[in-house]
Amino acid sequence: MIKSSKNRLTPQQQPLFPGNNLFDKIARAVCRAGTLPRKELHEAWEMAKRVRRKYRGGRVMDLACGHGLLAHIMLILDDSSQTAVAVDKKIPLNAGKLSKALISTWPRLKNRIIYKQVPVQEITIFPDDIVVSAHACGALTDLIINRAIEQRARVAVLPCCHNLKESSTYGLEGWMEKTLAVDTVRAMKLRSKGYQVATQIIPDDITPKNRLLMGEHLKRQPVEKKKSQNSLYQTKINEQ
Ligand SMILES: C[S@@+](CC[C@H](N)C(=O)[O-])C[C@H]1O[C@@H](n2cnc3c(N)ncnc32)[C@H](O)[C@@H]1O
Repeated sequence: MIKSSKNRLTPQQQPLFPGNNLFDKIARAVCRAGTLPRKELHEAWEMAKRVRRKYRGGRVMDLACGHGLLAHIMLILDDSSQTAVAVDKKIPLNAGKLSKALISTWPRLKNRIIYKQVPVQEITIFPDDIVVSAHACGALTDLIINRAIEQRARVAVLPCCHNLKESSTYGLEGWMEKTLAVDTVRAMKLRSKGYQVATQIIPDDITPKNRLLMGEHLKRQPVEKKKSQNSLYQTKINEQ
């Protein structure tokens, strides 16, 4: 099976994923929706599982979400996140079809995934959010990192389409490949803003744009310690 295939998964391809494991179950739901290229299924899965091994709970903000598969998988993997907001300046018309297929397999997700068709610039982020973004092109990844930093929210990005005019290499390209320099600068920026940084890669047979950058602010107050603020936080979420 070519995991990097850009061919759309269709209901006829469900037998390719016959197992009882979680990935195959998600893959069959994606096939039933018939909306996504195979590559995006693998990218979202590989990213979500690595992020969830590090960060639990919090409202999920899937920024530049496309169809929003990542938002769904983040909740499937960790039910302690109450909601996920899937944000894109142009939500694809068939995103609803994908969501419906996943929710009919995981009814507990009903009313917990909120699509918002707005630019990332206009979205409100809260400190307990977990900001995720797969393949936000070029400097959009920088914007997303900056939006997370403003609130000291946890962040995980899988950068792509590096724009060397807009994203800095800090002159590191004499020592390393240019796009690696951009991502290194991003990691160092998070560190300089008080984040504990983690870097991983997802398998390169899915995508060569496979560097996963994650960060959690060292002074982030765990949600459990903020019980007194919880009702205010919930109200704010409901207002979104
Ligand atoms: C390469 S796609 C990635 C989609 C999805 N995350 C994925 O992994 O398949 C980049 C997405 O960013 C969105 N986008 C571009 N600029 C944006 C902005 N300023 N605010 C929100 N979304 C934006 C586009 O509409 C597009 O859906």
